[in-house]
Amino acid sequence: MLNKEETELLCRVGPATPMGEVMRQYWIPFARSAELPAPDCAAVRIRLLGEDLIAFRVTTGQVGLVANRCPHRGASLFYGRNEQEGLRCVYHGWKFDVTGACVDMPSEPPESTFKDRVRAVAYPCHERGGVLWTYMGPRRTPPPLPDVVGNLDSESSVATVIRDCNYLQALEGDLDIAHFALLHTGHMTEDDLDGENPLRYQIRQRAARYAVVDTDVGICFGAYRPAIDGETCHWAIGNFLLPFYTQLPGGPLGAKRETRAWVPMDDAHTMTFTMFAPMLASSALTNSRPTQRIGTAARGRRPIAAMTTCWIGRLSSVVKATQGCPAWWPRIRR
Ligand code: FES
Repeated sequence: MLNKEETELLCRVGPATPMGEVMRQYWIPFARSAELPAPDCAAVRIRLLGEDLIAFRVTTGQVGLVANRCPHRGASLFYGRNEQEGLRCVYHGWKFDVTGACVDMPSEPPESTFKDRVRAVAYPCHERGGVLWTYMGPRRTPPPLPDVVGNLDSESSVATVIRDCNYLQALEGDLDIAHFALLHTGHMTEDDLDGENPLRYQIRQRAARYAVVDTDVGICFGAYRPAIDGETCHWAIGNFLLPFYTQLPGGPLGAKRETRAWVPMDDAHTMTFTMFAPMLASSALTNSRPTQRIGTAARGRRPIAAMTTCWIGRLSSVVKATQGCPAWWPRIRR
């Protein structure tokens, strides 16, 4: 159990916090490409690592991410006009390109060069597999984008949700694989499965034994139980990758090709990106799905809040830990 100081150290992500500085060393997914669907479309409010930022897609299709407050008098650039390769502040018309350079200053006389000395805070962006990434760190040349499974080719897909909790509170649920045999499949029996679905081993024996090994980029963890005739072991193996990625166990090794990012918006809100590679056509997983899909009851009836343009309203789940046991909670069978 962490004490209060250790918890503060790991959970605070704002500027100048130790964990915030660690996360700023990495590229960070901050939105889906579809949130900025076309050149010169409406800008989007992005809260990321405790900073309020504005994302916009310019005429040539490039994406910019700038500080919310205009460097002139602090007006919100969310209300700016996105036009001709730049975002123009609605207050005095200063216009900024994707690098943060001020490219037009209509409040100055034509001979003024003042605009050349003005910059908005701006972070470089990159787009891959339907996800927008940014680098908020100090390096002049950012590191390469991380090669995370699920975001490597154009046919990848991504699902997102915003949660009202700290990133670590959300992330640790993926490492807690003991709960899977109870929360997610506790309502199932072996009769609910077809073929040789390996879920039957955890339904037959919900308790498991665990192993963890350090890797160069995080940890690899596994749960193991007796398998066929109790003579061999069935392993469910997952990964944690720094600074906030998880890869969950699922089906035969190699069949599940997805990575989840638990991205801190601030200390109390987290945006989850689940990035999927195209499913292998011949995957053994596709031949061994449970007849009753895992968690269908939960997903199908979970209330989702309406989307808004506010800092944390792009997609919110309204299921809160404080609401107690909701109606869709599955019953556990033994
Ligand atoms: S406050 Fe933005 S241009 Fe003046």
